[in-house]
Amino acid sequence: AAVELGPYRHFMQKEIFEQPRAIADTLDGIQSITPALFGAQAAQVFPAISGVRILACGTSFYAGLTAKYWIESIARVPVEVEVASEYRYRDSVPDPSALVVVISQSGETADTLAALKHAKQLGHTHTLAVVNVATSAMVRETAMQFFTRAGAEIGVASTKAFTTQLVALYLLAGALARAKGRLSEAQEASMLADLRHLPAAVQSVLALEPQIIAWAEQFARRENALFLGRGMHYPIALEGALKLKEITYIHAEAYPAGELKHGPLALVTEAMPVVAVAPRDALLDKLKSNLQEVRARGGELYVFADADGQIEASDGVHLIRLPEHYGDLSPILHVVPLQLLAYHTATARGTDVDKPRNLAKSVTVE
Ligand code: G6P
Repeated sequence: AAVELGPYRHFMQKEIFEQPRAIADTLDGIQSITPALFGAQAAQVFPAISGVRILACGTSFYAGLTAKYWIESIARVPVEVEVASEYRYRDSVPDPSALVVVISQSGETADTLAALKHAKQLGHTHTLAVVNVATSAMVRETAMQFFTRAGAEIGVASTKAFTTQLVALYLLAGALARAKGRLSEAQEASMLADLRHLPAAVQSVLALEPQIIAWAEQFARRENALFLGRGMHYPIALEGALKLKEITYIHAEAYPAGELKHGPLALVTEAMPVVAVAPRDALLDKLKSNLQEVRARGGELYVFADADGQIEASDGVHLIRLPEHYGDLSPILHVVPLQLLAYHTATARGTDVDKPRNLAKSVTVE
């Protein structure tokens, strides 16, 4: 292969470690947050859009779910996110003034492409692709595009494509806010400053690898795991569970932590490790009480907190603290240790990390 592994054992590991560079490349040349980042038409289209409908599959779908939190809170534009394979066969209500966004690493996923064509048939003309492959079918089928610059992604389990999609979607939230007259200069400057700090911030999270390896050795002996998050970290919990399933074959589920009492708490015993994405935010106190419910049932907790997180390690509560608190960009930082946890659990179990059973990198048939 033209792409070499270098010091890494697998492409997935290499791609996890390429994230600071992939994010920097995706941000390269961006001096301001404007609709123009999304194509020439966007300056005309964005001010009038009534809402956003995001269509995607797999990890790209979870990027879309995260984007909903950003776009609604930053741009105050309503967002619907739907799995492409459901949307394409559903009798949905079209809104030609909405912006249809497809998110895809490959730009070729059959269900996402078909969903895009379906949206166009229903009268949607404002279409935007967030893709990593500039020559892909979704580029040809959309009016506007944003290219993530993750570089070639070879591991079947998506990593650097996901974090660069999140960067693109955070910019989209800012660009929509700008188009709607809702982005102050100060806010734009602070969003840009936070984005520029991101590669260094991801780098410092990658340095937690030795601690995560120690956790992975414990996870390798498990057959089930529960992932919890709240707010914009709920999609990150979903992505963490997906990564674990894809490459370790451990059964994993993710829940918004407030839903624990409506079902999954029944599964919690000493045999159920519970991973909590627990940055310091407005929901941390709520999450802490969810975690106490888990602990009270004997569940072993693995908590990813951040600086000043007001969570301490104790008996049955393992803690890894991310070095900083990252505000709105926190999902991008918090997914990185979950990628590493899945990766090292898979290597400890001896599974084929880059080519997990039954899965394909790009699913171009239905
Ligand atoms: C496959 C891959 C996933 C990916 C999904 C969507 O299932 O294994 O890693 O997230 O397709 O792919 P896309 O190229 O559309 O982002």
